[in-house]
Amino acid sequence: MERLVIVGGKKLAGEVTTSGAKNAILPIMAAALLTSRLCIFDNVPDLLDVKVMCRVLAGLGAECRLQGRVLTVDAAHAEPVEIEPDLIRRLRASNLVMGPLLGRFQRFKVAYPGGCEIGARPMDLHLKGFRLLGARIKEEYGFIEAEAESLQGTDIHLDFPSVGATENIMMAAVLAEGITHIYNAAREPEIVDLQNFLNKIGARIQGAGSDTITIEGVKNLQGAEHSIIPDRIEAGTYLAAAAITGGEILVRNINPYYLASVLAKLREMGADVHPYSTEIFLRGPSRLRAVDCKTLPYPGFPTDMQPQIMALMTLAEGTSIICESIFERRFKHASEFKRMGADIKIEGCVAVVTGVNSLSGTCVEASDLRAGAGLALAGLVAEGTTYLEGLQHLDRGYEQFEAKLQGLGARIWREKI
Ligand code: EPZ
Repeated sequence: MERLVIVGGKKLAGEVTTSGAKNAILPIMAAALLTSRLCIFDNVPDLLDVKVMCRVLAGLGAECRLQGRVLTVDAAHAEPVEIEPDLIRRLRASNLVMGPLLGRFQRFKVAYPGGCEIGARPMDLHLKGFRLLGARIKEEYGFIEAEAESLQGTDIHLDFPSVGATENIMMAAVLAEGITHIYNAAREPEIVDLQNFLNKIGARIQGAGSDTITIEGVKNLQGAEHSIIPDRIEAGTYLAAAAITGGEILVRNINPYYLASVLAKLREMGADVHPYSTEIFLRGPSRLRAVDCKTLPYPGFPTDMQPQIMALMTLAEGTSIICESIFERRFKHASEFKRMGADIKIEGCVAVVTGVNSLSGTCVEASDLRAGAGLALAGLVAEGTTYLEGLQHLDRGYEQFEAKLQGLGARIWREKI
């Protein structure tokens, strides 16, 4: 077991470079299953989730080779065999292999990933899309099985702009006969990156980034090289770290457009924010101002930045309100902030955060990836020392987390316990 030790009180200052996006590389690795030709990816982040996804693909007969930030995937001998249920449970995003397996082999069998710390996370929208494309779906004994003679393009209206459902349906439709329209599609930048990779291997997709995506089925696919877009949530997390400590930061290798709603919120809280073409400068205020915030599908404020903005609110002047509209149970970090002295009241999907003058370091535990990031931010400004456990979550989505913060002057290190 390991934990992070964080000694609060240091204003962060310096530069940090954003790594490749976790939520772009995971669907794109799954998409490589669609083709029997070699795919080469660079700017791949060094994350636990990428390693687990490599194991998922290997379980399907695809060969993955990760060397530094370059990943090759050779799915020439991939087969739609059953994936180890334990892997599915460890990595929810492994459900993204359903679309490519259905598209290429007209069948799949995967265990239900089940819910997690932030919500039930059903897959009804994924399965609705697969059925409309012509698949017969069986859900029993904790497994989902699908098979189809062939897939026919069709119109699919998503009841909610689900990121995963949009990605899975896009991938399933690539080799279908005819044209598929996905209406009320999710608009995240990671979906645009997936479209760009799929088109490089020969798919014919347009509209990603808007709420209507059109996929014209093709017969053959080839290999491609692709560079993964930067991680907007990682970038937002380091901007928040500078804001909460009243420091200064230059975040390199990021498209500010991906973070427009986060930059607007940080400005509302009093931060001085200067976006450039591929980097963002932020100077934090001496004291943050309270704001209200509602998480929404992109381009609204991202739910993956909710714990981080809550950390800022715990010390802001005034009372802030967060409405978490995406996941039904994404406030577990609030109780850990309260152990540090925060004043937070939770009512359903609403958190009322009254700013206090200071937080005090103590032992806290991350319940999920972004909760861990939020708690680390609180530790950066708490009086005394904060011990953050639950690093298995943090290491899923942040490459060299403590090293990047150390590079900004934070007194943070990892120790075995
Ligand atoms: C993706 O998860 C991200 N993960 C999540 O990031 C992110 O929080 C989420 O999108 C929202 O932006 C990856 O991209 C790997 P959804 P996903 O389907 O696809 C409901 C992180 O920390 N829903 O958009 O699972 C669902 O219950 C992770 O990096 C259905 O009801 O999210 C949730 O309430 C956490 N039925 C809402 O939609 C479905 O069939 C959003 O889920 C699918 C989803």
